[in-house]
Amino acid sequence: MNDNKTFKSEQDIHTDFTDKMTYGDYLGLEQLLSSQKPLSNHHDEMLFIIIHQVSELWMKLIIHEIQGAISAIQKGDLQASFKMLARVSKTQTQIIHAWDVLATLTPSEYMEFRDDLGNASGFQSYQYRMVEFVLGYKTPFILKIYEKRPELHAKLQEAYNKPGLYDAAIEALAKAGFDIDEAVLERDMSQTYRGNESVQEAWKAVYKDVQTHWELYELAEKLVDIEDAFQQWRFRHMKTVERIIGHKKGTGGSSGVGYLKKVLDHTFFPELWAIRTEL
Ligand code: HEM
Repeated sequence: MNDNKTFKSEQDIHTDFTDKMTYGDYLGLEQLLSSQKPLSNHHDEMLFIIIHQVSELWMKLIIHEIQGAISAIQKGDLQASFKMLARVSKTQTQIIHAWDVLATLTPSEYMEFRDDLGNASGFQSYQYRMVEFVLGYKTPFILKIYEKRPELHAKLQEAYNKPGLYDAAIEALAKAGFDIDEAVLERDMSQTYRGNESVQEAWKAVYKDVQTHWELYELAEKLVDIEDAFQQWRFRHMKTVERIIGHKKGTGGSSGVGYLKKVLDHTFFPELWAIRTEL
């Protein structure tokens, strides 16, 4: 008798996968699940590896969605970009919550395997820099890390020179008829965006008459969602690091928590924050 009510009979269950793709084949699980290679014998290193790998996977999706959103905005299809940008901020929620799991790692546990990491650090995360670049934060010294990896270097360099998400949004303001300074529209995209009066005035006008500018208003709020979540991630990282290593230097060579506090100062979309005081 078949106890499993969800199948009419056991014959319905697919068991012969000769010449057929399995779930594991499709997802490359063999490779994915054999990529956790602890260097120590310490039980807690598995958590440390998996939390980084999960975060990297989510970052891959974030980059994919932001790049899709940039092209949609450039084509004038703001509605399509909203779907992708909403997915970005929901994904960010996942990596923010990942800190709760990592916070179960105590200083004593981490110290058991920290020396095994050598100079390896999230500071060298290629995808994290891609996220920063597509969001318009271009720090040149980062590219040096990848000089010996020409393929990665070329991809990063390309993103470094291209307009970021905020540049696409500013272009959308100009296309909608707002008077944006030429200097901003034709700026060197490899430079981190630092803010401009004409952009601030344009966003202010959008927020003061949301009915007329509903799409741009929605775009602005989606950008604020992303920046807000990015800062939450940075803050949780800094606090979790402080909880685990206090004020020790980082394995990547920085001052550690001091450095992570400093990067919190960077604002991706400055005018969208500035106008809140003025409205
Ligand atoms: C025990 C856990 C962790 C510790 C102690 C730690 C510590 C640090 C420190 C001290 C830095 C500054 C650079 C350096 O000198 O190394 C850093 C940077 C970084 N870490 Fe972590 N981290 C941890 C977990 C993670 C996780 C789970 C991720 C997820 C991918 C991550 C991603 C990054 C990134 C992207 C940076 C560069 C940040 C920036 O430059 O703004 N870290 N980490």
